[in-house]
Amino acid sequence: MARVTGLTVEHHRVPFGIGERSPRLSWTIVDAAPGQTQTAYELRVVRGPLSPEPAKFSVKVTSGASQLVPVLVTPLSSREQITIEARCWLDDSDEPTPWSEALTVEAGLLDPTDWKSDFVSPSPDDRRAEVRGAHVLRTVFDAVPSDQIARARIYATAHGVYDIELNGGRVGDQLLAPGWTSYTHRLRYQTYDVTAQLADGRNELRVWLADGWYRGKLGFNGGRWNNYGTDLSVLLQLEITTHDGVVAVVDLDDVWQHAPAPIASVGLYEGEEHDARDDIPWSPDSDALEWAAAVRLPRSLFPAALVAPDGPPVRAIEELAPVSVERRPSGGLRFDFGQNISGKLAFTAVGPAGHTVVLRHAEVLEDDELASRPLRGAPSVDRYTFAGHPEGESWTPRFTFHGFRYAEIDNWPGDYAEGSVRAVVVHSDMERTGYFETSNPTLDKFHENVVWSMRDNFLDLPTDCPQRDERLGWTGDIQVFGPAAAFLYRSTGTLISWMRDVAAEQAADGAVPNFVPWIECGFPADSAAGWGDVAVFLPWTLYERTGDRAILATQFDSMRRWVDHVAALTRGTGLWNKGFQLGDWLDPAAPPERPDDSRTDRYLVATAYHARSAVLLARAAGVLGKDAERTHYEKIAGRARAAFLREFVSPSGRLVSDTETAISLALVFELLDTEEQRRVAGARLVDLVEDSGYVIRTGFIGTPLICDALASVGATDVAYHLLLQTKNPSWLYAVTMGATTVWERWDSMLPDGSINPGEMTSFNHYSLGAVVDFMHRRIAGLDFAEPGYRRIRVDPHPGGGLTSAAARLATPYGEASVSWRREGRELAMSLVVPTGVEADVVVPGEVRPRVFRSGSHDIRFPARSATTDPAPKRVRNLHNPDEGEPAPLLAG
Ligand code: BGC
Repeated sequence: MARVTGLTVEHHRVPFGIGERSPRLSWTIVDAAPGQTQTAYELRVVRGPLSPEPAKFSVKVTSGASQLVPVLVTPLSSREQITIEARCWLDDSDEPTPWSEALTVEAGLLDPTDWKSDFVSPSPDDRRAEVRGAHVLRTVFDAVPSDQIARARIYATAHGVYDIELNGGRVGDQLLAPGWTSYTHRLRYQTYDVTAQLADGRNELRVWLADGWYRGKLGFNGGRWNNYGTDLSVLLQLEITTHDGVVAVVDLDDVWQHAPAPIASVGLYEGEEHDARDDIPWSPDSDALEWAAAVRLPRSLFPAALVAPDGPPVRAIEELAPVSVERRPSGGLRFDFGQNISGKLAFTAVGPAGHTVVLRHAEVLEDDELASRPLRGAPSVDRYTFAGHPEGESWTPRFTFHGFRYAEIDNWPGDYAEGSVRAVVVHSDMERTGYFETSNPTLDKFHENVVWSMRDNFLDLPTDCPQRDERLGWTGDIQVFGPAAAFLYRSTGTLISWMRDVAAEQAADGAVPNFVPWIECGFPADSAAGWGDVAVFLPWTLYERTGDRAILATQFDSMRRWVDHVAALTRGTGLWNKGFQLGDWLDPAAPPERPDDSRTDRYLVATAYHARSAVLLARAAGVLGKDAERTHYEKIAGRARAAFLREFVSPSGRLVSDTETAISLALVFELLDTEEQRRVAGARLVDLVEDSGYVIRTGFIGTPLICDALASVGATDVAYHLLLQTKNPSWLYAVTMGATTVWERWDSMLPDGSINPGEMTSFNHYSLGAVVDFMHRRIAGLDFAEPGYRRIRVDPHPGGGLTSAAARLATPYGEASVSWRREGRELAMSLVVPTGVEADVVVPGEVRPRVFRSGSHDIRFPARSATTDPAPKRVRNLHNPDEGEPAPLLAG
């Protein structure tokens, strides 16, 4: 029997304390009969006591829409709670489905005037450029008796990072709140339900506060301190609603006190130093302590908008036990967690008072030592001094995180007892949506490594790496990784939040910083192609993967300003041929100390990106019904494409930079003019890859495109050779070297086990893992045909000796999956199409795709001709000779 399930609003995982006044609802339908579709839906809404609308209403709508549909006529008011249930009618049935489970939605503080509290600070003006300690703020207040309380909420944010405690218990489970946004423009607040934690009568509220991103050191080249201000302060509003519906803001501003936290020093890069002898006891003993009065800083001093979160918070996601523990000759303990993570250690031990353990972290070992050189200016050392409790002490750092697989603890008290040290994985708590596997374990391991690099680099915003003195929102990295990110996790909320910061930090002339939030640390401020283009590419990707036009509508101005900016740089010629560029960053041919020195002309890259961004912008204008803009940007795109052809392409189809990256850009961004040019360029691309011996010769720009480029000219088997190569440089080389995440450089670790001498060498960058998007779409064959997967395209390209491959995705409409197996000369495919969706299945030798309606389907077709693509030149079988049939498998 069909059911309505999975209710969500906007892109929230849990719609609590949201900032949207008119949140749109989405649901999925499960257990429907094959081929059934929704013809109507009904919503039943109960509005809270603060509502301007009738407390209860229901609407029935004749529509097949189940995504992002409007719910309310009158928008939510601040704090308002509503519950929504949905049911629907399928086909012509008179009987609706049962009502879904109710979804509760609660608004945060939607108007600036809702904030009655001010910031309070233990450290209002500290200009030192050094690592500082943390503070505890506390306030004691009386609450009305609990039987009168309907609900209690804390709305909080900070200049710094904070944790809240109430009456001895932790409030919420978020880490490093409020996260990192462009604090000068947008400061996120969090909403907490503290109803159950309030005590009758006396209550003690504490806030731990440390520098974090706001005042701590950020950035490379020595980094910068006090990036957003010299104060450290918290803004906290406690509201109690009694059963009669009256909301009272508890007046706390003048009663905040503070004391130094037992954290003597802490920084995101530096690590944390905690002395448990200084732990602050809970009330009533805490009254005896020396508390100083906190300084009140009026909200009006800080112009940043207070905004509700768009995505999930950062949390401790899981704990890993070490796969090995070793006593080092020095006496210290070495742990290998078997996985490179972003996070921290947690331990339990009995130690004498005053005894200090030192925790050091590294991604890899070199010469059998923790390799700390790649961390550069991020020492990543934690220290804990025992209070001496005979029953033992448990600790994990509160306000820092590290990128590591290995850790050493010096001075461990006594013998090591199994289970006493764990690694805590910390990142944005997004829901996993996409999975992929094949018959090739090395390829699957690579995919798993990409998933880990995504996890480790989505710590509140999309970053380049989690370990060294960067951890910055590099725009180019997420520009190329966006499609993969959208498949693997429900990351839209996290990414739209960050896109708002991109828009906020865009210069008056439309320039986009190369990383966002921007930190002034000596890096060129001019936007690089492929990096600044995130302003257009990422909103477009998110629209394609979610079907949410509002993302385009919100970002349209930012997208437009970027394309206008570049058009102005080209002085209307369309040729971007001047100024700063990063080019095909990290081309393996570039010397370690000159990562931008690629073989591909940097202005070829720039002009190609300009043309593509203008095309995508014109498409976005089309989606939004902005016809004049569409025509305008089509013209700009045409001009850029003409300039590209004039400057970089011979009439016959050869490119000025005779490189894989140049040709891939021309093919995938559809910049060539004629079929003949495509044929010549494609053949040349195949030649280049063959001549290289199927190793990688592309950097950040070419790598995400080359497999698609090869597939587009019928050379999928060449793409497989490249993809399955294990020699350096290749995607799988790192896997053969024991990698558990994707590396920044193809050879971050050299074949002899030494670390690349370049000073920029991370073992956890997702960019080069962007190719998994190709694997999902082309190897398994699960692709979207219409935005939001309303229609899916199934077009697997078996090859590379794989005997099976599968992908599944929780699309907005429910789970879709494709899995195929070679069975003799046939390909056996199982397909699951969600309700409300149709699938176009490309069957070899057939002119039109076969259309499948929702449900499960088993299909068989001849494998030998699994593609109608022309045969590429025969290639040598360089890999996996033992696995399945030797390549080439597709044709010929
Ligand atoms: C970052 C990159 C980034 C690049 C561009 C590096 O330091 O880690 O991933 O895109 O700089 O300059």
